Amino acid sequence: MADSEPRSGSEPDQLVFFVNGKKVVEKEADPEMNLLTFLRRKLGLTGTKLGCAEGGCGACTVMLSRYDPASEQLLHYAVNACLAPVCSLHLVAVTTVEGIGSVARKLHPVQERLARSHGSQCGFCSPGIVMSMYALLRNRPTPRMADVEEAFQGNLCRCTGYRPILEGFKTFTVEGACCGGRGRENGCCLTNGSAADKTSDDEAPPLFSAADFMPLDPTQEVIFPPELMTLSKGQRSQSLCFRGDRSTWLQPDSLDEFLRLKWKHPNARVVVGNTEVGIEVKFKNTVYPIILSPTFISELNAVTHTEDGIVFGAACTLSHMGAVLRQAADALPPHRTEVFLAILEQLRWFAGQQIRNVAAVGGNIMTASPISDLNPVFMAAGCRLTLMDKDGSRVVQMDDGFFTSYRRTILRPQEVLLSVHIPYSKKNQFVSAFKQSPRREDDISIVTAAMSVTFTAGMNVVEDLRLSYGGMAATTVLAKQTASRLLGRPWGEELLQDACSSLAEELSLDPSAPGGMVTYRRTLSLSLFYKFYLTVLQKLRLQGVAVDDVASNCLTATEVYCPQTPTSVQIYQAVPQGRSQDDVVGHPMMHLSAMKQATGEAVYCDDIPLYENELYLSLITSSKAHARILSVDAAAAESSSGVVCCLFADDIPGSNATGPIEYDETVLAEGQVTCVGHIIGAVVADTQLHAQRAARAVRIQYEELPPVVTIQEAIAAQSFYQPTRTIQKGDLEAGFKQADHILEGEIHIGGQEHFYLETNVTLAVPRGEDGEIELFVSTQSASKTQVLVAKALGIPANRVLVRVKRMGGGFGGKESRTTVLSTVVAVAANKLKRPVRCMLDRDEDMLVTGGRHPFYGKYKVGFLNSGKVVALDVSYYSNAGNSKDLSLSIMERALFHMENSYSVANVRGCGFLCRTNLPSNTAFRGFGGPQGMMVAESWITDVAQSLGRSADEVRRLNLYKEGELTPYNQILDHLTLDRCWDECLSRSGYQQRRAAVELYNRQNRWTKRGLAVVPTKFGISFTAVFLNQAGALVHIYTDGSVLLTHGGTEMGQGLHTKMVQVASRVLGIPCSKIHITETSTNTVPNTSPTAASASSDLNGGAVQNACETLVKRLEPYKAKNPKGSWEDWVTAAYFDRVNLSANGFYKTPDLGYDFDSNSGRVFNYFCYGVACSEVEIDCLTGAHKNLSSTIVMDVGHSLNPAIDIGQVEGGFMQGLGLFTLEELHYSPQGVLLTRGPGSYKIPAFGDIPTQLTVSLLRDAPNNKAVFASKAVGEPPLFLAASVFYAIKDAISAARSESGLSGPFRLDSPASAERIRNACSDRFTKLCPAAEPGTFVPWSVQV
Ligand SMILES: Cc1cc2nc3c(=O)[nH]c(=O)nc-3n(C[C@H](O)[C@H](O)[C@H](O)COP(=O)(O)OP(=O)(O)OC[C@H]3O[C@@H](n4cnc5c(N)ncnc54)[C@H](O)[C@@H]3O)c2cc1C
Ligand code: FES
Ligand code: FES
Repeated sequence: MADSEPRSGSEPDQLVFFVNGKKVVEKEADPEMNLLTFLRRKLGLTGTKLGCAEGGCGACTVMLSRYDPASEQLLHYAVNACLAPVCSLHLVAVTTVEGIGSVARKLHPVQERLARSHGSQCGFCSPGIVMSMYALLRNRPTPRMADVEEAFQGNLCRCTGYRPILEGFKTFTVEGACCGGRGRENGCCLTNGSAADKTSDDEAPPLFSAADFMPLDPTQEVIFPPELMTLSKGQRSQSLCFRGDRSTWLQPDSLDEFLRLKWKHPNARVVVGNTEVGIEVKFKNTVYPIILSPTFISELNAVTHTEDGIVFGAACTLSHMGAVLRQAADALPPHRTEVFLAILEQLRWFAGQQIRNVAAVGGNIMTASPISDLNPVFMAAGCRLTLMDKDGSRVVQMDDGFFTSYRRTILRPQEVLLSVHIPYSKKNQFVSAFKQSPRREDDISIVTAAMSVTFTAGMNVVEDLRLSYGGMAATTVLAKQTASRLLGRPWGEELLQDACSSLAEELSLDPSAPGGMVTYRRTLSLSLFYKFYLTVLQKLRLQGVAVDDVASNCLTATEVYCPQTPTSVQIYQAVPQGRSQDDVVGHPMMHLSAMKQATGEAVYCDDIPLYENELYLSLITSSKAHARILSVDAAAAESSSGVVCCLFADDIPGSNATGPIEYDETVLAEGQVTCVGHIIGAVVADTQLHAQRAARAVRIQYEELPPVVTIQEAIAAQSFYQPTRTIQKGDLEAGFKQADHILEGEIHIGGQEHFYLETNVTLAVPRGEDGEIELFVSTQSASKTQVLVAKALGIPANRVLVRVKRMGGGFGGKESRTTVLSTVVAVAANKLKRPVRCMLDRDEDMLVTGGRHPFYGKYKVGFLNSGKVVALDVSYYSNAGNSKDLSLSIMERALFHMENSYSVANVRGCGFLCRTNLPSNTAFRGFGGPQGMMVAESWITDVAQSLGRSADEVRRLNLYKEGELTPYNQILDHLTLDRCWDECLSRSGYQQRRAAVELYNRQNRWTKRGLAVVPTKFGISFTAVFLNQAGALVHIYTDGSVLLTHGGTEMGQGLHTKMVQVASRVLGIPCSKIHITETSTNTVPNTSPTAASASSDLNGGAVQNACETLVKRLEPYKAKNPKGSWEDWVTAAYFDRVNLSANGFYKTPDLGYDFDSNSGRVFNYFCYGVACSEVEIDCLTGAHKNLSSTIVMDVGHSLNPAIDIGQVEGGFMQGLGLFTLEELHYSPQGVLLTRGPGSYKIPAFGDIPTQLTVSLLRDAPNNKAVFASKAVGEPPLFLAASVFYAIKDAISAARSESGLSGPFRLDSPASAERIRNACSDRFTKLCPAAEPGTFVPWSVQV
């Protein structure tokens, strides 16, 4: 047995664990290394992905299995490998995605079903999704859907919109278990999860057939290693010591030993789940020289049932605590379990399952976070804590004396928390807990609260009251003054009024308080009390106590949110009967890489094995938004461990000027910085850790200059890039004269982070000859990367080879901004003549690379009494950031979409690009179009509201008609808007819904429903004409196999799959004979970025062209031997010396628009769609539920309906994030405060509309693109505005209860804060906002 002291000189212990059944013995286990790094770098198991390093995305999910000698059971649980210290794994079995199946061997049913149900697009989230599901099935082979939804609370996917993942895995559940193909005359009981809902005209087959799935056979699962079982039985509680460079890990084997060590090392950090400490180490660069791990000490894991409650050892995981409380709540009489139920309610929304499986209750208490979700309940319930040191223990009450200040408690340094005693509730005691966060699932609280009231028996007189709040001060607090004022008083309206005014006074927040949202937080503290008040009234009444009745229209305010399993329908047109089986165009073919993605075998850039002498690069970035650089001191960095060199602007051999269109940026800053995150230099070292540590050691002195951060500041300072764009048509003056009414309004649309799951990554490899360099990059623009790298290195482009296998998502974020990293990495590799790699951490990526442009729109609209809009004058201001990047084209697209789908005779739109000190904003799915259309939807809603008419009626009235002209004089032909509109209304049952919504709103005061139908018209083509070209290169080899290359990149959107389908049809051979290996600049040169939704059209055209050339060349051989095979013709042609390689080219015809004359064609064609959404808002908290969305989208003749529906759903969900959830917070000094999934919330599984219908419009061929198809990547995103306007509709209903009517401003996103603040009522009136200008806010609207 090891001596668990941190000894110097003596041997540390060996760490023994198993990975996928193989024993790992680590002699030098580093306490600072996490499991993810160990798997990827030490074991070369790259299936498990890094998405965030903070437990927030689930990409790194693996399953841990332990033998528990006490219960003699095997425990399997999903965890985040990014937070699991490798030292915590002694005698643990780790199962990764590679361990359960592979394409070469055999897929596991989980992997197969994810792939076949189209649940993997870019695939970067897929291994984590697979492992969450796998861990669930290991514990519960036939789960319920609710279990599946719970298992995915900690997983994010940015591509799919989640629906197909749930549909695929539904086949494992009780609700969806499959008959194995025996259920119906013609096949399986399941179609795509929606068979029951299909209408008669939808004869298309399901998107997948569950009957094809392999069955799940739990007996075939990987077994727990027998050797590990033996080891575990023998040495569970063993003292261990692992020593790293900076940190020693001590795992004591007994409580005494633990206490002795804590006594001896009072500054030692206790670590259990590491979900808090891991974040500190990673993001705050904290070093803990001694780590104490008490995870396996029995006293700290004990659960003891006492007379008055349950005692949980401090190391009990939240999952375990939840299970015990659930059991107790089921077994005990209800009046004893009020506290337990309140805790269970908080646990439902506490992080994701991977976190709850390891995070300890003691860890939550001792973190002492002011937004802890459990501490308010423990406080309100009067829990007792046992604290202990070497000399004994003491029991303290958990009240507001326990937390002494921000993240501090009364514990002495030598003390530890032994246990928490959670009491049974008493008769006449009622307890509730509340959590309000931006997103329901896996999110930290804005305000969290727990309230407990005890009444005199049989009466409504308050005997004891505890109101505990988190998020209202630097610690969890008790509203003691309010509580004492209410003691002895009857629970009634008067008490409520006094409670609210007292709480408003007691829980006042400084207007500059960290976290912002001050008015909202204050209002919430009252609204939550009101909910509690009503809930208690109801309970008292149920007990027969005489109290006021809760009015029927207030009942929903007391309801606890219970998610409903989503249902969905997907409708598309089947391919005509009689087509050749080999012709898969129009079939819902699976993404060609889906299986590899689901098994972790798909290779992303950072999965490329390390080169022998490879180095790692870390960026040095500015901490100031606008400043002169006075000095840079890199001495400490250069002398730090493993560092090879530091790079600055002087090291650039070629030009330091860079940028995708104009060279108005630097590769590395010179003299001044213009945003926080501006890249100043880089450190190159032997490992990532060393490079990152050294980069932090670089000292930079600045002379700060005043920054321009927001659009409003830019307008005030007239800080604009030139040119300002204007599009004008008709006679504006006459239009306004003709109008019966004129209104003015404005809207701000917040930016958006791409949050591709795979961050930016580049590996640059010098080739040793003639200055050649090869780059592996996760980019949408291989050619742009090539050109800008060549420019920085001062070499011709023909020496630079850029290769792109696949990206883990792009969404426009990897169109131009990838070069800020790839040029620096190339400069480093070129200088050192060694391979250099860098994958940005999530926080760096968010900081450095910019996102969607925030927009501010200001409009004046003239309209007739009928609602017909006759004049529009609109100005757009975008926050472009510190360089122009693509901002001008993005603004142009916003202007080209300023009327959305509405015909306006007299119109003027102006676009201003605000030059600010933010990281340059860039392309993002929709490229300014969504912002342009969002402003249109704002004015059309205002028009309707000012007339008191239904917004949907006014929209329909203004909708374009066939043959009308856009403001840029493009004629609209083959218009399908009206068809989409009508189909959407009928499929959504709009009329009945509207009536039901109105009835619901009449019947409910505190929850309101809203409905909106929103159209979209999206122009397809790059607006820069020269980009509308593409190339392809097709080789036929003598064995008949075909290697296809084209200029587009694969980022999950299924482009390669579609291109193979196109080639397959033209060549007349099955897809299995065609292979795409990558996109590279030495096969197809001068490619346009994969963007603008046009890649299938452009590259499809080029592929078609190349294949047709080859078909022509093969024709004579086919004619000579008509009965021969493809291989016969190829062989014959080869021996006849025919060139079996062809390149293809395509350019979109007849494009070219001129702003000056407002003439010429901008777009090749338009995509149309309409969505109808229904929501329900909670007027008291601002939370909303997405009840239903029906989308009808015209994608022409779909090349691949599964991929197209995936794009529609994924785009819609990304739009839903943009318009309702995702908020970037910047400080007034321009510092991005939201830099990871913990603080920046993208939609999660729980955000899917409860009913989701997607229909691809039938019989709508497009004569302008390959095989009559249409683009699909960007157009559907805007349809999520229907959710925003449904929310606005619901808010209007709430406002009318307070006598407010007519237009009101609602900025995007419609966050919980905005919704609550807009629902003006008696509670908001008690919390007036501070006067702007009288304080410095925590964050500003940029
Ligand atoms: C993605 C993510 C989501 C999260 N979501 C939520 C959420 O929804 N709500 C919420 O409240 N929190 C949340 N957290 C915070 C965190 O998970 C919890 O606070 C968790 O309970 C911490 O437990 P742990 O065992 O992982 O703590 P650790 O990181 O191991 O330790 C945390 C702190 O507690 C101390 N400590 C632990 N045990 C003892 C002991 N016995 N005696 C003395 N000190 C001790 C440690 O020294 C350390 O300071 C989240 C964290 C992450 C990463
Ligand atoms: S990488 Fe571990 S949760 Fe995101
Ligand atoms: S497929 Fe899920 S993130 Fe791309």
